[in-house]
Amino acid sequence: MTHLKISGLASLCLALVVAAEALSSPAVSEEQARQAIEARKQVFKDMESAFKPVGAMLKKPREPFDAAVVQTSAERIEELSGKIPELFQLDTSKFAIETEARAGIWNSLTDFNAKADAMAKAAADMKAAAQSGDQGAMRKAAIQVGRTCGSCHDSFRDK
Ligand code: HEC
Repeated sequence: MTHLKISGLASLCLALVVAAEALSSPAVSEEQARQAIEARKQVFKDMESAFKPVGAMLKKPREPFDAAVVQTSAERIEELSGKIPELFQLDTSKFAIETEARAGIWNSLTDFNAKADAMAKAAADMKAAAQSGDQGAMRKAAIQVGRTCGSCHDSFRDK
């Protein structure tokens, strides 16, 4: 009886480990890791280009936001943030390839992906604000998007 309980517990533990690992898999070669790192860096470069015009508007508090520009930026950021979980599915931490991604990402993938999700939601809010045309709402939503970038970088990016 006791024995049965223990082996039941052991297989439950095993199932949990398998479930946790299913989020990521280790890169099998340096070349594979290099390609994955290049791909995710490119997405973040695109992310920066997408947010840049809105960031510029945030720096000019006396000028109105251009709703069309805000909407385009929001749509692009939402689309790009949806790619993040897949881009980090491959654990590249075993290879010494230049990256700003902290190895801790692959121990905290659920948290990391939640931060990508938070950014997607902030971008959706920014899109809604752009559609409303409300200046105050656009400014608030834009600040919030910027915070979601910073929140993930603080935890998971080396600078
Ligand atoms: C879910 C986490 C996360 C979010 C959200 C996030 N980033 Fe990043 N970002 C990273 C990580 C991790 C790296 C390092 C990637 C690498 O070097 O492999 C990075 C790298 C970058 C880079 C450097 C790319 C390069 O190598 O040239 C830029 C620029 C950047 N992010 C901009 C942004 C902007 C702008 C936002 C918000 C609109 C944002 N990021 C949101 C995690 C995030």
